[in-house]
Amino acid sequence: MSDFEVVGKVSDFEEGVGKAVPVDGRMVAVFKKEGQWYAIDDLCPHMGASLAEGYVEDHTVTCPWHAWRFCIKDGTWEDNPRVKVESFEVKVQDDDVLVRAKDEPEKPADEGEPAT
Ligand code: FES
Repeated sequence: MSDFEVVGKVSDFEEGVGKAVPVDGRMVAVFKKEGQWYAIDDLCPHMGASLAEGYVEDHTVTCPWHAWRFCIKDGTWEDNPRVKVESFEVKVQDDDVLVRAKDEPEKPADEGEPAT
């Protein structure tokens, strides 16, 4: 079972704005939204943009490069829900924000039908 890693202080994060942080050797996009915390893989599966730099509306982040949209709650690609990026557990302890690293990569998601 992997451990939580401290990724910053609560005050390092802005409401509704993503922030990329290193967790266990990879970048994870952390979002604070309406009092809740979320973390998904920072790497857009399309061409590798940072999802933390995307625009957040409701619980959707839009990739800054080509506007693929992902749910910040669970990483689902909203234009093709059979595909997701990884999501991570987040917790706040005292003033620290912590993200739980993954033990090993999840199985690759089903590619599904090509987007048209
Ligand atoms: S790199 Fe994210 S949509 Fe293209």
